[in-house]
Amino acid sequence: MRTHLCGELNTAQAGETVSLCGWVDQRRDLGGLIFLGLRDRAGIVQVVVEPDSDAFADAERLRKEYCVRVTGEVRRRPESQWNDDMATGRIEVVASAVELLNASAPLPLLMSDEDGEEVRLKYRYLDLRRPRMQKNLQLRAALNRAIRNHLDGEGFNEFETPILTRATPEGARDYLVPSRTHPGEFFALPQSPQLFKQLLMMAGMDRYYQIARCFRDEDLRADRQPEFTQLDLEMSFVTEADVQAMAEDLVRAVFADVLSVDLPAAFPRMTWRQAMERYGSDKPDLRLPLELVSVDAHVAHVEFKVFAGPAADPAQRVAALRVPAGAELSRKQIDEYTAYVARYGAKGLAWIKVNDATAGLEGLQSPIAKFLDETAWTGIAQATGATDGDLLLFGAGAWGVTSNFMGHLLVKLGHDRGLAGDDWAPLWVTEFPMFEWDEETQRFYAMHHPFTAPAVDDANALRDDPAGSVSRGYDLVLNGAEIGGGSIRIHRPEMQQAVFDLLGIGTEEAGEKFGFLLEALKYGCPPHGGIAFGLDRMAALMAGEASIRDVIAFPKTTTAQCVMTDAPSAVPQDVLQELGVVLRPREGS
Ligand code: AMO
Ligand code: AMP
Repeated sequence: MRTHLCGELNTAQAGETVSLCGWVDQRRDLGGLIFLGLRDRAGIVQVVVEPDSDAFADAERLRKEYCVRVTGEVRRRPESQWNDDMATGRIEVVASAVELLNASAPLPLLMSDEDGEEVRLKYRYLDLRRPRMQKNLQLRAALNRAIRNHLDGEGFNEFETPILTRATPEGARDYLVPSRTHPGEFFALPQSPQLFKQLLMMAGMDRYYQIARCFRDEDLRADRQPEFTQLDLEMSFVTEADVQAMAEDLVRAVFADVLSVDLPAAFPRMTWRQAMERYGSDKPDLRLPLELVSVDAHVAHVEFKVFAGPAADPAQRVAALRVPAGAELSRKQIDEYTAYVARYGAKGLAWIKVNDATAGLEGLQSPIAKFLDETAWTGIAQATGATDGDLLLFGAGAWGVTSNFMGHLLVKLGHDRGLAGDDWAPLWVTEFPMFEWDEETQRFYAMHHPFTAPAVDDANALRDDPAGSVSRGYDLVLNGAEIGGGSIRIHRPEMQQAVFDLLGIGTEEAGEKFGFLLEALKYGCPPHGGIAFGLDRMAALMAGEASIRDVIAFPKTTTAQCVMTDAPSAVPQDVLQELGVVLRPREGS
């Protein structure tokens, strides 16, 4: 039906007769001429219909989003009419025929960035016609292509793993599917292919990858969907360094291929502890030139209990954040930041405006200056590098809570003050704790997942000090987003059993849930490890989108619904009957 794509045309085709198919992006009638913006997946081209042309009457009937075929001659525009914002902006197509392929009903949305999320998702097929969304999905396809090209050249094989399976714990709730042939029993959709990829290593497959769909019933945010895609990888006979080198090469190759961006030759690395100390986060955004500084040593002796208490307690901390030229912030703005950190559990936010750094306490404006002494201030000034015009903000209290709220503050201030550069900042975060203690339930949780190997290769040593044990897990962070996570895995049954024990998964429960894994570990399991990338997050970062919904063709809403197909939905009684499922009202509703 067509000879070219709309967006491909340029001065090289000047003088040629072309046929194009696409949608009317807009129609303008100007002094007897009709201008059409004709759009397809490659872009938009301007079509001109002259009043004496046979096509004129047909063009007059066109409305936005009508589907048409246009035949005409490509004409170079006079230089005064060039539009270099458009790839096709130096030519136009003078129509000789306009054929209506299909009309469109009046549009239920604007098809612009002003449309709300709900209407965009309800009419997703229209929303996706927009150039921005076309570009995003094409970028995503290019990303998949680049990944496959690279990994195929590195000796990886792509294998599929089951979707109807057993629970694969990654810390979220499972989506369950009732079985008709085994009434009362359920499949779980995989939270990740974790166990299957490990079993593939035990099966001798050596290097596996899969662009895999994962399902997690968890609270949604801009960077989380209930159904999302991982680039999942696993390798046998490797250490952390091997997996990380492979992952870096892959990410570098993909960025070069898709965006023509050269990422650094070696990604910086930081331990989890350092990341929390210096950035208050396990995913620091290294584009921001801000850092937390521990000032405990300088304030342990002061009268001010808010500081002195935490400074003297190893389980607590006093952290300072220097905001260059931040003394210009108003009292009201500081109050707003205080309210912001309160959301993350801060009991207050102490501050100092540095008017004259050389004048000792006299040179400061601060509600807490009266509680400090010259020694304390000299120490703080040196540790933070404070100079005239700076603002210092302080958090004090439990180590984890304080690091976390100061970390959120760092990111917010960094963005509010426009400090993030537009470069790319990858970072490995390593040496995570094996376990996280939960006060509420009084038990340990796995910081990665229960199959991650501890740094100590001795189950008894792990049992002796679970709280202090470090894992062989690692995360890859890009511009403050966790784009991938992985680990070296446990490959011996006794270590796997020890971890299950420490997580409160008894022998019986472990046997029932993971018996197949414990059994498989007995038969010469190779040392192995891997990583999984959040493909949606990578694509969103590469496309410059804030939400992963904008790089997924048919995402769910924040309440985990598909408003287009109206899923999830009720099912007829007889279907439930066949599945042996009886519904009853949820407690409390
Ligand atoms: P993890 O749970 O860290 O590890 O997931 C790996 C990466 O997947 C992305 N991700 C998500 N993206 C969108 N929506 C979600 N709900 C979501 N949850 C996670 C993140 C994350 O870094 N099996 C292990 C990997 C391994 O050990 O090899 C796993 O799933 O970018
Ligand atoms: P208060 O003695 O509670 O009036 O607090 C004096 C100053 O210390 C105020 O500026 C508070 O915002 C600040 N402050 C109180 N608690 C904390 C805390 N946990 N961390 C940092 N600053 C705090």
